[in-house]
Amino acid sequence: MAAAVVRDGREILASVVHGQAEVHEPYGGVVPELASRDHVQNVSGVVAGALSEAGIEAADLDGIAVTVGPGLVGSLLVGLSFGKAMAYRLGIPLVGVHHLVGHLASVELSADSLRPYVGLVISGGHTALYRIDDESPPELLGETRDDAVGEAFDKVAKLLGLPYPGGPSVAKAAESGRADAIDFPRPLAKRGGLDFSFSGLKTAVALEVERRGALSDGDVADIAASFQAAAVDVLVQRARRALRQTGLRRLAVVGGVAANRSLRNALERAGGEDGFEPRLPPLALCTDNAAMIAAAGSVLLGRGERHGLALNAFSRVAIDAAPWAEPAAR
Ligand code: KG4
Ligand code: ZN
Repeated sequence: MAAAVVRDGREILASVVHGQAEVHEPYGGVVPELASRDHVQNVSGVVAGALSEAGIEAADLDGIAVTVGPGLVGSLLVGLSFGKAMAYRLGIPLVGVHHLVGHLASVELSADSLRPYVGLVISGGHTALYRIDDESPPELLGETRDDAVGEAFDKVAKLLGLPYPGGPSVAKAAESGRADAIDFPRPLAKRGGLDFSFSGLKTAVALEVERRGALSDGDVADIAASFQAAAVDVLVQRARRALRQTGLRRLAVVGGVAANRSLRNALERAGGEDGFEPRLPPLALCTDNAAMIAAAGSVLLGRGERHGLALNAFSRVAIDAAPWAEPAAR
């Protein structure tokens, strides 16, 4: 659950993130029911916290942006209902934001006009490349055919007995491992397209874990490092290919996995070689947060978009589809 106050779509006055790691930790992954309950319990405190951190009253707000999906509907509905109630009480406009449009806005918060650019969204639920132009909605260039890369990190962490959330634990374990210890597969690397696939890589890790039996700390480190190297290779290679194919010169990488240090270094190196400058949000804006939603919402409000109180949430919805913005949804 997160809430933020952003001024003029650029300046973050407050950004509060109430993590749920300890709620889901015992289960090794997100339990939807528990996520919804945690949202209900924390929504008002988190919103009040953001207002007080920003040093403003609710009455000072000009508009409310709220995530409408994709995501766990039970959790989305909590934020959506709370946002609606606030907008109604304050008599200010409400706008729904696509989660991935929010992630993309996280990099635009800190950069001067980046568009047009290739956007690589890498999170626990998504792995996709988009072309982002000035006016038109993001155009999907390629996406994962199975698991998201963050999901692969999380599953590998589980296989290695590392704590949830998996991404940071795998990255930490990898620090003391050898990235060339195991030559894990780089799925779809040789095909020409821009799609991704991570389930084969995950299976290869599972087989390696099985083959080794009881894992020493050194085994865990080597497997983590070799898996991370394969995942990073695939992401960087596909991003480079997207830049070549589109002829664009700017790359933005957003989402939880963009916090990965090894990926950030590999992107810098690739940028140096290919002559592009990778843009990554600061670490705090990589993983889910509300500042990115406020920033994206502020752009929509500026364009005059308004979504009524019939606004709904969606577990799955394409980035260029906006069923919440259609008259029928009002
Ligand atoms: O964007 P995000 O916070 O939530 C989703 O929208 O999914 O991304 C969460 C994902 C998780 O799979 C987590 O394991 C991964 O991002 N992640 C990382 C790192 N930090 C978070 N993966 C690799 N390295 C990291 N340092
Ligand atoms: Zn996310």
